[in-house]
Amino acid sequence: MSELKVGLAGLGTVGAGVVRMLERQKAALAARTGRDIRIVAVAARDRNKDRGLDLSGVRWFEDPVALAVDPEIDVFVELMGGAGDPAKAAVAAALDAGKAVVTANKALLAHCGAELAARAEAAGATLRFEAAVAGGIPIIKTLREALAGNRISRVSGILNGTCNYILTRMADEKLSFDTCLAEAQRLGYAEADPTFDIDGFDTAHKLSLLTSLAFGMRVDAESIYVEGIRSLTLADLEAADDLGYRVKLLGVAVRTDEGIEQRVHPTMVPKHWPIAQVSGVTNAVAVDGDAVALTLVGPGAGGDATASAVVGDLADIASGSGGYAFGAPAQSLAVAERAPMQHHEGGYYIRLSAVNKPGTAATIARRMAERGISLESIVQHRPARNNGDAPATVILITYATTEADVRDAVAAIDADGVIASVPQVIRIEKD
Ligand code: NAP
Ligand code: HSE
Repeated sequence: MSELKVGLAGLGTVGAGVVRMLERQKAALAARTGRDIRIVAVAARDRNKDRGLDLSGVRWFEDPVALAVDPEIDVFVELMGGAGDPAKAAVAAALDAGKAVVTANKALLAHCGAELAARAEAAGATLRFEAAVAGGIPIIKTLREALAGNRISRVSGILNGTCNYILTRMADEKLSFDTCLAEAQRLGYAEADPTFDIDGFDTAHKLSLLTSLAFGMRVDAESIYVEGIRSLTLADLEAADDLGYRVKLLGVAVRTDEGIEQRVHPTMVPKHWPIAQVSGVTNAVAVDGDAVALTLVGPGAGGDATASAVVGDLADIASGSGGYAFGAPAQSLAVAERAPMQHHEGGYYIRLSAVNKPGTAATIARRMAERGISLESIVQHRPARNNGDAPATVILITYATTEADVRDAVAAIDADGVIASVPQVIRIEKD
């Protein structure tokens, strides 16, 4: 039986998972693909680290770029992470050398996806990245292959396991943000720099890849509106619960008359919606096509789930499956027209810390009314301290309005001097 010889750079959460899965599923993969998929060389930073892996007979490279072009390997698997070098240099070198590449590195692809896809085409090489979006969910293959006949109008979902894990545990167990983040890191869900997770950039990186595949666009993470979950408090999650919602960090790309609206932000979704019930590290991706609408749900992060996607790509390569990285030739991918976030329409949750003085409520209501914003509810909570000067929490829920009007109204209320701290604004998805 012929071999598919793999060079693997990165032996952390995902890399170690891949080594174990290839060993565990060796016979089944050989039976399925007709080839023996074998790791012949690896690279990582610390050669002496105990990884609990049997790497006997596997060559060690100090330099991932040297591994990427090693004549013995057929496929280079990049699981180091980071948008810059050595990940970028190694992937580029492997493609230029005509080697197939598998990567889970959404940061790299979000920044250089178009360039790397063009390099792959020029060299006749295959570039695969199923693990880069939504962990174990096969959404890349679904968009690139299975739904190729659809005109897609929207792709959206929970794309970051760390954030969904944090929001779920905060809401269900009233744990602090920091406690939940530390646990997500311990479980191997978070990025090496977890600010990518909690500030929404990891979701944006993934969304940019989905947008490219769904709408035939050039990958463009820079044009995505991004807000993370750092400012969310237990009070917001409890208020959402009282109002019949759960808060999720969503990535949304929608085809509009003005172009593709791409946004990442915390969103209140009705509790009875299936996506509201997607908990913990689980991700969900919904695709609306003209012929088929579907939602895929599954584990969004972690060693085994992500290794499953990497090994799936390797099995495809072993079976001889090729094709364009983003479903079409890199040069044919259009530059996305960006629909301005200011034109976004929807409901809003606005939490204000209102100065406790006569006329405050009237001022807030007036500023909203001046912009034609219709309020579904307005609730003022008694100040936490029994002190006449302490600010009171005011929570407003709007009917559908525009981002521009909400931002303008909140700025005007701030300028009126009736709020004591930075307002919290969360978009609402409604039935
Ligand atoms: P990780 O646990 O931090 O592992 C990174 C590995 O890369 C380590 O083995 C590290 O070596 C090696 N490495 C880092 N910098 C290197 C360098 N300059 N030269 C050589 N080796 C280097 O990361 P991970 O969680 O496995 O993530 C790997 C990739 O998968 C990232 O792109 C990440 O975004 C992506 N991903 C992760 C998940 C997840 O759930 N964790 C899910 C989907 C995608 P040492 O071990 O010697 O330090
Ligand atoms: N840090 C990422 C997450 C890993 O939590 O979703 C999976 O891409």
